[in-house]
Amino acid sequence: MLRRPRRNRKSAAIRAMVEETTLSVNDLIFPLFLMEGENQTSEVGSMPGIYRFTLDRLLEEVAACVALGIRAFDLFPNLPEVRKDKHATESHNPAGVYLRAVEQIKRNFPDVCLMTDVAMDPYSSDGHDGLVENGQILNDETLPVLGRMALAQARAGADILGPSDMMDGRVGYLRQLLDDEGFTHVSIMAYCAKYASAFYGPFRDALNSAPKFGDKKTYQMNPANRREALVEAELDYAEGADFLMVKPALPYLDVIHLLHQHFDIPIAAYNVSGEYAMIKAAAQRGWLDGEKAMLECLLGIRRAGAKVILTYFAKEFAQWQRQG
Ligand code: PBG
Repeated sequence: MLRRPRRNRKSAAIRAMVEETTLSVNDLIFPLFLMEGENQTSEVGSMPGIYRFTLDRLLEEVAACVALGIRAFDLFPNLPEVRKDKHATESHNPAGVYLRAVEQIKRNFPDVCLMTDVAMDPYSSDGHDGLVENGQILNDETLPVLGRMALAQARAGADILGPSDMMDGRVGYLRQLLDDEGFTHVSIMAYCAKYASAFYGPFRDALNSAPKFGDKKTYQMNPANRREALVEAELDYAEGADFLMVKPALPYLDVIHLLHQHFDIPIAAYNVSGEYAMIKAAAQRGWLDGEKAMLECLLGIRRAGAKVILTYFAKEFAQWQRQG
């Protein structure tokens, strides 16, 4: 045998030397859940270790994460039903908890990169991402709502906007609006290939944002489709996206790889709530080593071609790395 690949695995030093993929806290964005009130946290039942925070406690959490080296966050609001309506009015209320949180995070931690979410679902009494009429989810009519939301977030100091409703023409519309209003520096991370997935369940628990009727299959992609992701990516790229995101991550590594091969802007992957919950549930039962499974999954997502990973494991990873 002339070729013995095992020689390159014979010691930790050699294994580290030939390691092809690395994972750093710089690659990660930590999603955070915000709720109204004071001095409270509440654990998401289906996401052990992940909490909803009131604004005061959220600022403490951001400080703790920053101390661990985490530099990027994505914020989502959990709102009581009374704040929701058909037009997601609360989404652009400057006195609302979400926009105040964006403003305060950026005031207290000017160096963090703060991403905000541009979609109607946490604010909608229908629990859908768009305006609803006669059971239909409207595409173009929803744009002005998203525009008001996006501008309010940009004014509050958001660094990256994440239009997450997976409908048509979002990136171009928002880019134009941001530029017209003097926010040329605000980035857009396109939810480019977002699939109609069962893995969003725990997130909808966290935000109490499940659709009140039907499902999201007329706007989110069919899990069977890969080539369609290229169509979505071409549009978002042409419309000015700064990042192309694939979501969820683990069942769609081929899609991450495909976009990485075809586009030269950074590819992001959202390692979603259900992917987190699966590992946590198995680890709690002692069925697998949660820490090792976390590292292997994050590495796999990077290896597939994602430079950026949105993950609920960000803090745990940062703690693990800190411990050496
Ligand atoms: C919808 C949105 C979803 C997530 C983020 N924004 C899912 C959905 O309800 O369609 C899911 C994230 C996760 O599961 O971690 N705008």
